[in-house]
Amino acid sequence: MNLKVVGACLIALLTFAVTPAYSQDEGQRASTGGAQTLEDILARQKGLKVDESFRRDNLGNPENAQPISGNLGSLGGVSNSDIYRGIRYSETDVKVSNNGPAAEILVQDGGMDWLLTREGSIRAYAGYGIGGIILALVIFYYARGRMTIDGGPSGQTIERFKAFERFGHWCLAGSFIMLACTGLLLLFGRSVIIPIFGHEANSAIATFSIWVHNNIAWVFMAALVAIFVMWVAHNIPNKLDLVWFAKGGGIVGHGHPSAKKFNGGQKLIFWMTIVLGASVSMSGLSLLFPFELPMFAKTFGIINSFTGVGLPTELLPHEEMQLAHLWHAIVAITMIIAIIAHIYIGSVGMEGAFDAMGNGQVDLEWARQHHDLWVEEEEAKGAPIRQTGDLR
Ligand code: HEM
Repeated sequence: MNLKVVGACLIALLTFAVTPAYSQDEGQRASTGGAQTLEDILARQKGLKVDESFRRDNLGNPENAQPISGNLGSLGGVSNSDIYRGIRYSETDVKVSNNGPAAEILVQDGGMDWLLTREGSIRAYAGYGIGGIILALVIFYYARGRMTIDGGPSGQTIERFKAFERFGHWCLAGSFIMLACTGLLLLFGRSVIIPIFGHEANSAIATFSIWVHNNIAWVFMAALVAIFVMWVAHNIPNKLDLVWFAKGGGIVGHGHPSAKKFNGGQKLIFWMTIVLGASVSMSGLSLLFPFELPMFAKTFGIINSFTGVGLPTELLPHEEMQLAHLWHAIVAITMIIAIIAHIYIGSVGMEGAFDAMGNGQVDLEWARQHHDLWVEEEEAKGAPIRQTGDLR
């Protein structure tokens, strides 16, 4: 399932990059004096790629100037259209009275691509991806049933996570769930909330959501660092993980492949959380401090030096923001889909799993079946074994 999701994200990116082209009869443009036509504008609004060279390369030529007595003579060799085209392609020396990082860019039309991608592919793939994983888990639950402890619980428990580990996990989980809910409310506000509840309700929900989103993000970032420090040593991949995957993790079939504190599947969730969590945090910071933390031109430069793919390394401040916004959404949606599967396994999907993050004590038999080598290590260290009744 997750492979499908990664594929969907790549398609979303490609949709953005490989937009269908549109071509306009040059004769019609000649009739507007070389300016764009209504068809050009409509094509751009539909997300088609318009070859802009007819404007970009047409920024005025003094040789073609009207004589001083003719129309536009007072502007010398440059017409108003030429000036606007110059502004559009950042070829004009613009002076402004405020000095924000993007103040001198007066026109930038990449917003259309950004809007169409956000309201089109991103929303669609988010809907399919999240709906798809929930449906897949419901089907899986009815087909496979809850994974139970073979032979039933032993009545004895062993400590799996200490209080500070559970605190770190729940800070991460709580903040992530709030970020996911408020982010989805912002993404789907126009298409879902406005038609059902109206503009005023959407405005109130969006204002509240962005406030929660911007503030809770700090808890998520701090918790991400905390779980990295706490668990990285237990998540270094090794040969045992390959065997675990080869045996389908015991999820497909009913075997119990050996594992230490974390099995192969859990390591995958851990690294997905760390890598995508860091990426979503960095693009989020770039959005939180507009124009202050551009990172795509530099990242593209690094990718180019390794792959030679030729990604653009000179981006306008607005383009940086547009890319940060799309990337933030794509990574967040990928994480949401993977974490829904994680929440399923950690709660209804597997008997005895939730206790690990609930009171920190897991049934000894559960631990032996899913983390046999870890239990051996703990027993060798003399970890206390309790009777279930001791916790009541
Ligand atoms: C209601 C929501 C959640 C539940 C019920 C839940 C449950 C659990 C449980 C029971 C474990 C321990 C498994 C074990 O004993 O080995 C665990 C571990 C973990 N959780 Fe969660 N979790 C939730 C949300 C989240 C979220 C939102 C994130 C990340 C954004 C997350 C990240 C992790 C990580 C990285 C681990 C360690 C690796 C692993 O066991 O997969 N969890 N979770």
